[in-house]
Amino acid sequence: MAVADRIEEIRSELSALAETLPSAQELMRSMAKLLHERMLKYNWVGFYMLEPGARPPMLVLGAFEGAMTPHTRIPLNQGICGAAASSGQTVVVDDVRKDPRYLACSLETKSEIVVPVFVRGQVVGELDIDSHFPAAFTPEHQNLVQHCAMLVGKKLENSGK
Ligand code: SME
Repeated sequence: MAVADRIEEIRSELSALAETLPSAQELMRSMAKLLHERMLKYNWVGFYMLEPGARPPMLVLGAFEGAMTPHTRIPLNQGICGAAASSGQTVVVDDVRKDPRYLACSLETKSEIVVPVFVRGQVVGELDIDSHFPAAFTPEHQNLVQHCAMLVGKKLENSGK
């Protein structure tokens, strides 16, 4: 199956999950599992959520699939994760060895994408994906991951949990 067709198929499955699952927590768990199982170059898939009320703000590891990471709490001034959450922008890194912000999770990771999750215009967390392949996150993948983050943000807005 061509990558574009696979992405389209997964996009619709995720939209269906977002409609049927009762909470954002369940959506994040199922989404991490589905992306990790079905997108062959998505070797670590997880959510970091901003800890409510934490000062300074702190990203805390939530639902994830892949090897356990040493980075379970990340301040906003650290890592690709901190950069995405503090800027509210998607960050794509084609070669993590060349990015001084990168916090290593696995020695095998070559590229990474982090997409913020918004609730009513505010960043509440992010979807982080690592690949063992360089430059894995082409524009069509960026679209898919942004769609995923949008579904989670909408679910949090609508279900509140
Ligand atoms: N690489 C991330 C840290 C999280 S692990 O990849 C799971 C970063 O640089 O922020």
